[in-house]
Amino acid sequence: MQQLTDAFARKFYYLRLSITDVCNFRCTYCLPDGYKPQGHNNKSFLSLNEIRRISRAFAHLGTEKVRLTGGEPSLRRDFSEIIAAVRENPQIRQLAVTTNGYRLARDVSTWRDAGLTGLNVSVDSLDPRQFYAITGQDKFREVMNGIDAAFTAGFSKVKVNTVLMRDVNHSSLQSFLNWIKDRPIQLRFIELMETGDGGSLFRKHHVSGEVIRAQLIQQGWQLLARSRSDGPAQVFTHPDYLGEIGLIMPYEKDFCASCNRLRVSALGNLHLCLFGDQGIPLRDLLAEDWQQQALMDRIQGGLGRKKQTHFLHQGNTGITQNLSFIGG
Ligand code: GTP
Ligand code: 5AD
Ligand code: SF4
Repeated sequence: MQQLTDAFARKFYYLRLSITDVCNFRCTYCLPDGYKPQGHNNKSFLSLNEIRRISRAFAHLGTEKVRLTGGEPSLRRDFSEIIAAVRENPQIRQLAVTTNGYRLARDVSTWRDAGLTGLNVSVDSLDPRQFYAITGQDKFREVMNGIDAAFTAGFSKVKVNTVLMRDVNHSSLQSFLNWIKDRPIQLRFIELMETGDGGSLFRKHHVSGEVIRAQLIQQGWQLLARSRSDGPAQVFTHPDYLGEIGLIMPYEKDFCASCNRLRVSALGNLHLCLFGDQGIPLRDLLAEDWQQQALMDRIQGGLGRKKQTHFLHQGNTGITQNLSFIGG
């Protein structure tokens, strides 16, 4: 078994695979004006067979975990087939999705039956009106029902993503804590990141995760020790709470030292970082099964170009217009 390793000895066994750019929400920090086709249509995105070949190649390169991202991945009609296709590879033991929750209540048990093992749901506010103001969709109740449906379907834990924004939700820690007191939810506050489209929002609303960290520590929350396979979240637990709190602070100097993930966009480009890289085209090697070795060589060879950090802490926004186009 090969293992993807970069020039800084980081190992990559986690692939974030975007399967569509399309999204039906308009989150202020991501697609404030809604999804606009960029000269391609639904047929432009990776086909089921291309997804099968990508998964197989990454599985042979040591990938153990895949996350399906978007846009909103569950808008694909063949979403359940995609789940099953990725799970055809026994090496891929974890298959998760990052979703806005819109289709959860209806479909989560089908996804689980198809082989999904993990769920991350975006919930930026527990106030339905504010949820609507942030996402442009009046779907707070449906998303909450969807999270309940996930537990009913057999998921033992759900991760929730909350983008931390000054004067929007940065003083709502207490209500989020009440929500997770008796629920097995890991709620992760993610620092707002500056994208090409989001400069003014960033200047107005960026706030450091420190404001949350300080309150957690004051209330007796304790930082969990990291294990080798952990991503960038710092996770806190408290004996009185079933849920956990995570902090994702990409502006910390050493954030990228624990980077363990690669990304493939819905157009079939390998992105070595969320910020500042053009992507390495893979699509010409996804047409036939016999191309697998060449595909693996290109992935392995491309990894040599991965930089040590995204340089966000030095003001880089790179060429990333918004995170929906490479799956966050
Ligand atoms: P787990 O695998 O469950 O730990 O989740 P994850 O944090 O990898 O996945 P998720 O899609 O929930 O990520 C949440 C958000 O964290 C992403 O949408 C990004 O906003 C941010 N994030 C994840 N990975 C990176 C990264 O490598 N760099 C930066 N700057 N942000 C990231
Ligand atoms: N800053 C931080 N997180 C973002 N996401 C999208 N855009 C941004 C941004 N500018 C993340 C959110 C959402 C996931 C799909 O992408 O965490 O939950
Ligand atoms: Fe859609 Fe997710 Fe972007 Fe919100 S953050 S607009 S749900 S892709």
